[in-house]
Amino acid sequence: MSEKKATLQLYRGDNEGGEFKTYEVETYPGMVVLDAIHEIQAKQEPGLAVRWNCKAGRCGSCSAEINGKPKLLCMTRMTAYPDNEPITVTPMKSFPILKDLVTDVSHNFRMAAKIPAFAPKPKEADGTWRMQQDDIERIQEFRKCIECFLCQDTCHVIRDHDKKEEFAGPRFLIALAGLDMHPLDTLDRRELMKTEFGIGLCNITRCCTEVCPEHINITDNGIIPMKERVADDYFDPVRWLARKFIGHEKKKKASLPVIQFTGAPDFKDEMTVVTTKKKPRSADEGAED
Ligand code: SF4
Ligand code: SF4
Ligand code: FES
Repeated sequence: MSEKKATLQLYRGDNEGGEFKTYEVETYPGMVVLDAIHEIQAKQEPGLAVRWNCKAGRCGSCSAEINGKPKLLCMTRMTAYPDNEPITVTPMKSFPILKDLVTDVSHNFRMAAKIPAFAPKPKEADGTWRMQQDDIERIQEFRKCIECFLCQDTCHVIRDHDKKEEFAGPRFLIALAGLDMHPLDTLDRRELMKTEFGIGLCNITRCCTEVCPEHINITDNGIIPMKERVADDYFDPVRWLARKFIGHEKKKKASLPVIQFTGAPDFKDEMTVVTTKKKPRSADEGAED
């Protein structure tokens, strides 16, 4: 079998600056971009930093940009790119670079901690909760999220306008949607969606949906229904009157949780490995080629 080679241009550097370096690797059938980077790490550049864990599209750690497009390195086959052109791999643009292909995504964890947690109503007299299957199916899709943050990386509100503080971003808007649509939840987070999580800044470009490796219909199934619910609450005169005179729905208004951060660990010297509890899937099942 004739040996095939591919050229990769990888970003090497940190948030202060860096450069592209070019590497050649031998390819083999089924190789994904993460395999190629591991080959380079093993044989040419032991100091090259790349974050990964499961190599199965489950942990969401290996997010980066391949030829400028947000992708999971472990689920993108080398054959997706022409043989005779270099493949460029850069860290996610929306987050600070720690080293080479590894970004600091801690902003996302801080945003997650701001979301008021699930507050279920009391159990029925027989000690159980009952839910309609339709209600469960509506929110199940959002729970497939692997927290790769590719949607956060691609959203122009964060990427181009850097509104990280004013805008929760698509990953957290679907988390909020999942809570709002949950049949057992008792908190009303809609005011926070408008004021703290900036749902109004989303202009439904659907770029987040296009890059989601779990194929979650972020915009149509999560963000648009939530925008409608928030708009109904604020701008529908009938609902406004009902809220004023009859009282709003039975849900209690949520307030932001009080969070104390003790400071982020310094990942620069020691890249922390995050473990996954999710079921692995094979590259054949999910790799893009
Ligand atoms: S649809 Fe909204 S959240 Fe998704 S990328 Fe566009 S602006 Fe961002
Ligand atoms: S919604 Fe999709 S793209 Fe966004 S973090 Fe979750 S899995 Fe990744
Ligand atoms: S290493 Fe790619 S998703 Fe886990």
